[in-house]
Amino acid sequence: MMQKLTAAITAVNGWVPEDKLTNFDLEKMVDTNDEWIRTRTGIIERRILKTPGLGTSDMAAPAVLELCKKRGITPAEIDCLIVATVTPDMVFPATANVVCDKIGAVNAWGFDLSAACSGFLFALTTGASYIESGRYKKVVVVGADKMSAIVDYSDRNTCVIFGDGAGAVLLEPNDAGEGILDSILKSDGSGRNYLHMKAGGSVKPACIETVTNREHFAYQEGQTVFKFAVKGMADVSAELMERNQLKAEDIAWLVPHQANLRIIDATANRMGLDKEKVMINISKYGNTTAATIPLCLWEWESRLKKGDNVVLAAFGGGFTWGATWVKWAY
Ligand code: UT7
Repeated sequence: MMQKLTAAITAVNGWVPEDKLTNFDLEKMVDTNDEWIRTRTGIIERRILKTPGLGTSDMAAPAVLELCKKRGITPAEIDCLIVATVTPDMVFPATANVVCDKIGAVNAWGFDLSAACSGFLFALTTGASYIESGRYKKVVVVGADKMSAIVDYSDRNTCVIFGDGAGAVLLEPNDAGEGILDSILKSDGSGRNYLHMKAGGSVKPACIETVTNREHFAYQEGQTVFKFAVKGMADVSAELMERNQLKAEDIAWLVPHQANLRIIDATANRMGLDKEKVMINISKYGNTTAATIPLCLWEWESRLKKGDNVVLAAFGGGFTWGATWVKWAY
């Protein structure tokens, strides 16, 4: 029998701005301190895209260009490019279009996918389906967010958490049973009240009042989101393991969304995984929303081995959450 076609990750890359925003910098901006931020979140510093006039596409484009170089292909060979983001360059057109233009992906179509911190997993599963169906040979999935564009740097509840960055993977067909093997994705729109941007959409278009009331920034009820995140990420990861008869010892790596070290620890515990098997870089980048998972894969790329079982897991605004099983292909 012919092996089912799967979508393998064949290259990974990341891009982060050079400018760092440290806990000590934040101490000068709001009533907070390094000790609180470290112990409550695990974050020490984040990267910020400071240059005026630059947006999410300016992080995604270099990430994808280098991704192509690593794999030895030209951007013109990309069939489809998906950008997971909640901080698009503009409301429209899609950031994916802008990225394709900036890198010369002249034969690609693409679109943006909005699922906040779960965006990369949602986009990865979507992109994998195009490969599995046989429709496309090269799909690029990007997770990129310029959170500094929507963070209120006078709100200590949110400004200590977020950072900017972009990560990308290339998906190609595989007939050896490697790649994206299973995903469980979930959403619950009743969670929208706890993490959202109040204005700037069609419900509440921008006006003087929305600006004065600081409603164009990310709003989060941290404690509530925290509770749902701990349960959601752990439950869905356990469900994915059970459905695929994966035991803790079968899993080489957990790649969790980097929102809070305590949420990551809870998920790893529930899965029965030792800390050494968990990719954690939250201390350096904070929460880069859709970029956290590909940025981890990028950083750990040299330690990943062909055949490794890797579980990706995320929880975010929406609410959205999910877990994906990847068998590493190189
Ligand atoms: O990315 C996907 C979705 N997002 C998440 O998964 C984030 C989930 N939430 C969290 O990670 C946490 O809720 C936060 C890191 C946002 C907040 O941590 P927390 O442990 O839930 O803190 P809290 O909101 O319960 O606040 C505890 C205390 C409060 O003081 P009192 O009332 O106990 O006196 C806050 O006012 O800490 C205070 N506080 C701060 N203190 C210093 C809140 N923010 C700060 C701060 N610096 N930045």
